[in-house]
Amino acid sequence: MPVLECSKDILIILSLRTKRTMIHIIPKPTDTSGDNSTGMVMNELRRMGVSFSVLDLATVNPFHLSVEGETIWVCGILQDGVQFELLKALELRNHVINSLDAITTCASKVITTAKLIHAGVPSPDTCFTNDKMIVANFLADHDGRAVYKPIYGFDGNGIYLFDSLDMVTETAPYYVQEYIENDRDYRIFVIGNKAVGAIKRQSAHLTHNIHQGGYGCAVDISPDMRAVAESAAMVVDIDYCGVDLLPLVDGGYTVLEVNGTPNWHCMTAPIPRLLAEYLIEQDMDGRK
Ligand SMILES: Nc1ncnc2c1ncn2[C@@H]1O[C@H](COP(=O)(O)OP(=O)(O)OP(=O)(O)O)[C@@H](O)[C@H]1O
Ligand SMILES: [Mg+2]
Repeated sequence: MPVLECSKDILIILSLRTKRTMIHIIPKPTDTSGDNSTGMVMNELRRMGVSFSVLDLATVNPFHLSVEGETIWVCGILQDGVQFELLKALELRNHVINSLDAITTCASKVITTAKLIHAGVPSPDTCFTNDKMIVANFLADHDGRAVYKPIYGFDGNGIYLFDSLDMVTETAPYYVQEYIENDRDYRIFVIGNKAVGAIKRQSAHLTHNIHQGGYGCAVDISPDMRAVAESAAMVVDIDYCGVDLLPLVDGGYTVLEVNGTPNWHCMTAPIPRLLAEYLIEQDMDGRK
């Protein structure tokens, strides 16, 4: 038997590499009984007989960690300036999914857009500045209309189309984007750089987000959609994400943003099972 020829050290290394640790789960703060992303994945883990525990960030002491060498799944966090720091401390000694770098990149529309554009992934022309005159020039360069977005916005909140500088009443900085003519958008769910599910969202107004009253329905993933969404996930270097796309009038897609703690509303693909499987696979790898 070849295994008998292994030295004790190699056997220890092998057993460490294949060791299953415990999956620790940080629930999404916005979960409700009717819309519980964390619970859906937990149910799948239970079904598969995989042990996990719920980690309450409020109990984490960043200087004396009670969890080390484990896999931590962050279903969602509050952008309150505390949870992010606690997670960053946990990441020093654990394998956190998604990584804090990836979550931070996705939280900032500026950094996401910069990464996409630098990597040549299609994304709308965008301006980021403190100077309203630069916004005025951008407007003039884009047929006199553009879209204002909060840098750390979500659920379509605070996004509007403007055709005059007077309509922009927010204070600097300004993240302003070329308006892409459309009647729908798409959310592609990507796990391990592979697109696994997609929905189309439609509404009669600018923002098609479900939280803004958009209607979502599952769609097939076309090869074009897949290519763009998978490139965006790779560029952001994220375990799993929701990539938001707008269709282009002449064909193809442009990436609006990458969501680092995405929901999977209206998806018919079995996202909770696929996510649970991914977490188990990553946990088996035991990266830290
Ligand atoms: N440049 C644009 N041109 C036309 N419509 C846009 C543009 N940017 C955003 N929109 C509309 O606003 C919606 C929300 O945009 P985006 O996904 O960038 O913001 P968000 O608030 O972060 O969304 P999420 O809830 O997915 O985090 C889009 O789905 C689209 O309908
Ligand atoms: Mg979006």
